[in-house]
Amino acid sequence: RRILYPVKDLRGRRILVTSGPTREPLDPVRFLSNRSSGKMGHAIARLARWRGADVVLVTGPTALEPPFGVETVRVETGEQMRQACLDRAGEADAVVMAAAVADFRPRSPAPTKIKKDDLVAHSAPLLTVALEPTPDILQELARRRRPGQILVGFAAETGDLEALARRKLAAKGVDLIVANDVTRPGAGFESDTNAALLLGADGTRVDVPLVTKEALAERILEWVAARLGR
Ligand code: CTP
Ligand code: CA
Repeated sequence: RRILYPVKDLRGRRILVTSGPTREPLDPVRFLSNRSSGKMGHAIARLARWRGADVVLVTGPTALEPPFGVETVRVETGEQMRQACLDRAGEADAVVMAAAVADFRPRSPAPTKIKKDDLVAHSAPLLTVALEPTPDILQELARRRRPGQILVGFAAETGDLEALARRKLAAKGVDLIVANDVTRPGAGFESDTNAALLLGADGTRVDVPLVTKEALAERILEWVAARLGR
């Protein structure tokens, strides 16, 4: 049935998509992560394939099936996602960075399991963990981008959506920002639906109401296909 998907405007195009959360180890059995389900990124990868693209999906851990016909690379940490993206971005006509990369990681993950008894032995009431920022993959891709390559980033925000998204669009040096107000009911993390403000460096401003993540993926890919066609 998917072969009958009517729009093939990405045929012959190579698209790199990232999806899901990343995990940053605290010790061999624990990690820091976030609420991303991967539904948005997987929907983009699946629909890009239906539209005829050759798709590479770099994904953090999710409960989702890899999309049919999509080359899927599984990673855990932000550094692994960075490496996979740098490996594959050179050949991509467009990169859509839908992953929720963990922003911070424990600076020195413990090589062995952290034991409660050790805290008690040191009569320490708190376990404190020093965190350092993870590499900003999107910014690095923007610095290394080749001429004509389209870069799409996401923005998860909780304040003035448009102002924060405009700042991110400029700061990241990307072509399009898909901004989500993650406090809005039915939008953002874990949901099957999403609402977004699409802001483009070319002046694009599209307010997408609460729709399925597939429908939002279509709007993003329509924009990408139109830009690549120009
Ligand atoms: N991103 C990335 N590498 C990171 C963090 C984020 O590539 N280490 C990407 C995300 O995939 C997304 C975009 O940058 O496409 C914006 O992510 P977001 O979390 O909204 O913004 P940050 O730049 O991380 O800033 P903050 O979370 O502080 O708002
Ligand atoms: Ca972030």
